Order: sequence, then structure tokens, then C-alpha cells
Amino acid sequence: MIERLHLDLRRTVDESYDILIGHGLFEHIPVDLKISPLGNKYAIITDSEIRDLYGWKLLENLEGEGIKACLIDFPAGEESKNLDMVGYLVRRLLENRIDRKSAIIALGGGVVGDLGGFTASVFMRGIPYVQVPTTLMAQVDSSIGGKTAVDTSEGKNIIGAFYQPKKVYIDPSLLKTLPEREFISGLAEVVKYGVICDQSLFKYLEENRDKIKNREKDTLLHIVKASCRIKKEVVEEDPKEENKRAILNYGHTPAHALERISGYKCLHGDAVSVGMMVSGGISVRKGFWNEDEWNRQNRLLESLGLPLKMDFKVSVEDLIEALHYDKKAEGGAIMFVLPRRIGEMALVNGKYKIPVSESELRTFLRSILL
Ligand SMILES: NC(=O)c1ccc[n+]([C@@H]2O[C@H](COP(=O)([O-])OP(=O)(O)OC[C@H]3O[C@@H](n4cnc5c(N)ncnc54)[C@H](O)[C@@H]3O)[C@@H](O)[C@H]2O)c1
Ligand SMILES: [Zn+2]
Repeated sequence: MIERLHLDLRRTVDESYDILIGHGLFEHIPVDLKISPLGNKYAIITDSEIRDLYGWKLLENLEGEGIKACLIDFPAGEESKNLDMVGYLVRRLLENRIDRKSAIIALGGGVVGDLGGFTASVFMRGIPYVQVPTTLMAQVDSSIGGKTAVDTSEGKNIIGAFYQPKKVYIDPSLLKTLPEREFISGLAEVVKYGVICDQSLFKYLEENRDKIKNREKDTLLHIVKASCRIKKEVVEEDPKEENKRAILNYGHTPAHALERISGYKCLHGDAVSVGMMVSGGISVRKGFWNEDEWNRQNRLLESLGLPLKMDFKVSVEDLIEALHYDKKAEGGAIMFVLPRRIGEMALVNGKYKIPVSESELRTFLRSILL
């Protein structure tokens, strides 16, 4: 006789949150947390560089508002985005008497956001966290959408969770101290948004290159806001990446392969820039996109200081081999999202992810990488 007990766990959850964007917002975070608290104590998780630039300041501001807080840092860089560091952060959280009633503030670039967010998702089975992104990459992309992860020796973002922050505080003034290379790398994601969904953003980038490169206040605010709006709308439509959210990965299939080949030494945005050149070229070869627009995209990337080829040698065979490691390889063919015009992505059978067979790819890559 088999007994069957049915445990009914259907539920609807509301994971909505605000993304606040503004120059000078950093100074207002403590007041905002005082008005809408997330916990009885806050742990600021940051990296060794941001600690001195903004970490101590945030701690002081929180304490100035009478909010209990501590600061925990780890060595800056992608090498820290691993499970050992999650263990280290958990120990430091416990030492600082952070408990399930506390919250985390992830203050930093994408590495801090991914690692801090993932730690928040597993610490005591999950405590609330907010994102305070400090790189352009994090302000326009990684701080929004709740993808958190760490790398393993097998690859990037292998262990992770969808875990949404309770709020995202974006202050473009924090970008003032960002090194030039990191800033330009972040611009690759902004160009991406233009190509995948927003023709007017794309034109704005073409017409305001110098102001962008000089990080003029209003220009920065404009591109950050436009990018966040696009990311937000796409994530709202497809939070778990069943179809539409994949367009945010434009250029990323080749980019992840290039990053793997570089041993993760190259900047993500540089790889995305080259990746968009490659994916755009595939789209042209497959007849989805016209060559003039592909060239226009590539000219914009170059004029912003982004690369169209990596500064190390990449053979077609190396690239194909690395593409097979990618999570996006499904059943032999490799999946790409491909533009059909600036501001719109191609759909095949209602799907944005389009398979490209290995033999097709070999032919395309030979002509594109020459
Ligand atoms: N979760 C997502 O949806 C998502 C999306 C895109 C990228 N990512 C991840 O983001 C990571 C890359 O993030 P990143 O490009 O922000 O790199 P990063 O976090 O490593 O930051 C780059 C460097 O800039 C320094 N820095 C950060 N802000 C600064 C500032 N304001 N002034 C001076 N220096 C500053 C950092 O200390 C670091 O040395 C990758 O691990 C990638 O996988 C995640
Ligand atoms: Zn990216």
C-alpha cells in the first residue's frame, strides 16, 4: 500500500524592486535605508580597491544615521569570484554578527555584485541585499536582473542563482574614479542595448562620442538611464531567460569563448565588442542583417575605443572549440542571437536563439576573422 501525501507549494511571489538613478545618490543611501529598512544590521561587501574609494565613506555615512553596519572586503578581480571566497565571506559575516535579520550591501563592480549577491542568496538560506554598482558595466548591466554566480575551474558563472536585490542604487558620479579601460569596456554593453532594442540610443552614441568619452555628467546619466530601462523591460518580460532575455546576450556567445581562450585575462566588454563584430558578421552571412548596418555598428565600437579583434591570436578552430564549452551550445549547434536591423533582433520560429551549425560557423568565421 502506497500512501500519497501531496505537498501543495504553488505560490506567487512579488520580487519587484526599484532602481534609483542619480548623481549624488550615494550620499542618500543611508537615509533611504533608514526610511525603508531591510534589516537590523548591514554588511557592506566590497573589494579591496573600492573599500578605500567608497567603502569606508558608506560605512561612516550609515553609522552617522545611527544604522548598525560593518565592512567586509576581498581582493579585487575576477579571480575572487569563486566558492572559496563565498566561504570566506560567510565566515566574516558570522564574525561580524550578521544574522538572518540582517542585509547585505554589494558595493562595487560586477564581481562584487555577482559574489555579494550569491553570498546573500545562500547565507542562512537567503538574506536581503541591495546593489550599489560602481563600474559602468555594473551600472548598466550586472546590478539589474538578479543573476548571481561564481566561477569554477571549468568556467565562468557555473554555480549561481537567480536572486533579486531589494533595490539598486546607481550613482553615475562614482564612475569618475573608474580607470579608462574599465569605462570603455562598459560602453560595449551600452552599444549592445542600442543594437538589440533602441535605435535612438544607438544614434545618441554615434552623435555624442566625445561627451561620452569625457564622461560628461548629463551624457553619462542619459546612457545609464537608457540602458537600465532596456534591461529592466527585457527582464520583466522574461525573467528566467526562456526566450526574449537571451537578446541581452548579443555578442556574448563569441565573447565567452574569447574570454575562455584568454584564460579570463581580457576585459569582458572588450570580448563583447569583438563578439558583436563576430555575431553581427554571422547575421549578415545568414542574410538577416545588411552589411552597411554591421559596418555602422563596428565603426561606433571602434570610435568609442573598443576593439574589433583581440590582442592575442585566435584561430577559427580555437574559437569553435571554445564555443562548444559555452552553456549556449545546445545539441551540437551553437546558439546565437542575431540582429536584423539596428534596434531589432531576428526571430526564427518565434525564438531569438538561433542555431548555427558547426560547418556553417566554420565558413562564416573564416571570412569574418580574416
Ligand atoms: N550578473 C550579471 O547579469 C552580469 C552581467 C555582466 C557581467 N557580470 C559579471 O561582472 C563581472 C565584471 O564586472 P566589472 O566589469 O564591473 O569588473 P570588476 O567588478 O572586476 O571591476 C573592475 C575593476 O574596477 C575597480 N573599480 C570598480 N569600481 C570602481 C570605481 N568607481 N573607481 C575605481 N575603480 C573601480 C574594481 O576594484 C576592479 O579592480 C564579471 O564577473 C561578469 O561575469 C555579471
Ligand atoms: Zn556582458
